[in-house]
Amino acid sequence: MDKQKEDLMKKAREAAEQAYAPYSHFRVGAALLCDNGEITCGVNVENRSFGLTICAERNAVCQAAAKGIRQFKAIAISCPDADYPVSPCGACRQVLSEFAKEDFEIYFQGGKGEMLSRTMAELFPDNALDELRDSSL
Ligand code: THU
Repeated sequence: MDKQKEDLMKKAREAAEQAYAPYSHFRVGAALLCDNGEITCGVNVENRSFGLTICAERNAVCQAAAKGIRQFKAIAISCPDADYPVSPCGACRQVLSEFAKEDFEIYFQGGKGEMLSRTMAELFPDNALDELRDSSL
């Protein structure tokens, strides 16, 4: 197993311990590797108004964005309460695609250890509307 991938997943697993999931009891941790080498982590944060829940992946993106970081290499997602690797939800794929290039790597793992790897292009094909962005910002 590639060491960088394993190290990133370890950080995601550790982050998952801080998940706030008193409704689903389904903890998720994400570790986002930025181009500058920094790693930002996120967890799912649920709410009694269920639709306001934020996923771990989007939380990790926001942590990085708040530091002014816009370029990313990979994300690891750990779902220790799942029997199989759980890929990011559609909303998170859309948000990741704002910053991620086609070769951005997405690693995901459940509680039994199996890890899957996909690229952004695989999980979010036919990406569109990039031309709407002001690329000077
Ligand atoms: N969740 C994530 O944080 N990321 C995913 O990719 C899948 C779902 C969270 C949302 C909710 O708190 C719980 O997992 C169950 O859906």
